[in-house]
Amino acid sequence: MSLSLRGPRTKVLQSIHFLKDTAGFVRKCIQRYGDPYLAQLPMGTVAVTGDPEGVREIFSADPEIFEPLSRSVLEPLVGLNSMLLISGERHKRERRLLMPPFHGERMRAYGARMQEIVLRTLEGLRPGDSLVALEKTQAISLEIIIRAVFGVDEAERVRRFKEVITAYGQSYTLPIAMAPPLRRSFGGRGPWARFQRSAEALDGLLTEQIGLRRADSQQREDILSLLLATRDEAGPPLSDAELKDELRTLLVAGHETTAIGMAWAVYWLHRTPGAKERLEQELSLLGPRPEPEALARLPYLGAVCDETLRMFPVVALVNRKLRAPFALKGHKLPAGMGLMVSITQAHSNPTVFPEPERFRPERFLERKFSPFEYMPFGGGARRCLGAAFALYEMKVALGSLLAAHRFSLAHDRPVRPVRRHVTLAPEDGIPLRYEGLVQGAAVAA
Ligand code: HEM
Repeated sequence: MSLSLRGPRTKVLQSIHFLKDTAGFVRKCIQRYGDPYLAQLPMGTVAVTGDPEGVREIFSADPEIFEPLSRSVLEPLVGLNSMLLISGERHKRERRLLMPPFHGERMRAYGARMQEIVLRTLEGLRPGDSLVALEKTQAISLEIIIRAVFGVDEAERVRRFKEVITAYGQSYTLPIAMAPPLRRSFGGRGPWARFQRSAEALDGLLTEQIGLRRADSQQREDILSLLLATRDEAGPPLSDAELKDELRTLLVAGHETTAIGMAWAVYWLHRTPGAKERLEQELSLLGPRPEPEALARLPYLGAVCDETLRMFPVVALVNRKLRAPFALKGHKLPAGMGLMVSITQAHSNPTVFPEPERFRPERFLERKFSPFEYMPFGGGARRCLGAAFALYEMKVALGSLLAAHRFSLAHDRPVRPVRRHVTLAPEDGIPLRYEGLVQGAAVAA
């Protein structure tokens, strides 16, 4: 392969550095080798860019020339029919079928339910109590997926789903995610057998839930019911096996990501002089019980969410594998090679975001950024399907939370982002102290 790109050569050291400190590794390589540069990573040789020109070339290229870079990490979790793992015509059709319930204007249907879940999750807190932001936001985003996406209503079934999903997530350990040869059952024992048992339990619940919704003649707003009602002119509706893989995909792609985004927002708001006060003032204009729709329209709250996802992108990199040769900023790359957009790098470009290390939501009120400068949800034909849902959830949850409750940070040390499978999460989850209820504020119904 005759490549004009430069990059470090030692594969093992690079891979370790990349897995331990993805953002630091990418920043150092770009400083040393330029943008784009070549990296030898566990998933193969990849050309990495974070520059608006490189990002534009990747996100506006014909999607037919890309396929997923690595299937093996996610496949056991989401299944082979998952949108994350398919490409070409199949991927296009699947997106067409799944897209309608995620359109921005549909969000209104989920608002009241989201708000009720947020307020209920914080019930029972007393001033002086300690809590961890990420644990609360995870509980919130999980229940939102179970109720608003899977359409589970009854409290006992919601509890069962939570239990099974928690075991499912915990049993998919980093070693079995990263090393497929470890995916063997030793007489029904060992980590793989444990994961398979929890996967079967989840599969059973999803089969049952699809059956219940199919038999239900009521008009419902949850995403599963909308998907069951979807018909595609170009072909048959999704089979049950496809539906189950896509439901697991929405769970894996939408639960932890949104929870991490909300926890970082709480962190930045409490760490940045004036930010929380400005938001509290904006919220106070909506009265003690803000409507979800009104929250979703608040400019400063929206800017806080945007700036949070800029500072520490929850997903630091998006990648593709080339099915055909491709030129990236004039460098010819062969078929089979990987491409990566470093979102962290793009979001810390000082010519686009002056003083990039400062949390300054105002920058999103002062100007608009192009999809090649700011891309917390990736881009092109694979841009996050749940972006509108995630932003709506973040705004409704944060707005409802801070309109009703007061918190403070339990310590004033900076918190680092650390890798959890494909996301970057706050190292200690952001410990908080509960300060009390705002007078006259909304509490759970
Ligand atoms: C703050 C929260 C979230 C962030 C930062 C995020 C980020 C991302 C990113 C970076 C990608 C890859 C895009 C690319 O390859 O160009 C992605 C894909 C995806 N996300 Fe999200 N996401 C979030 C929430 C959600 C939610 C709530 C859902 C659904 C309930 C969701 C569903 C998906 C799906 C289905 C894909 C695959 C799209 C495809 O391959 O065509 N995400 N997300």
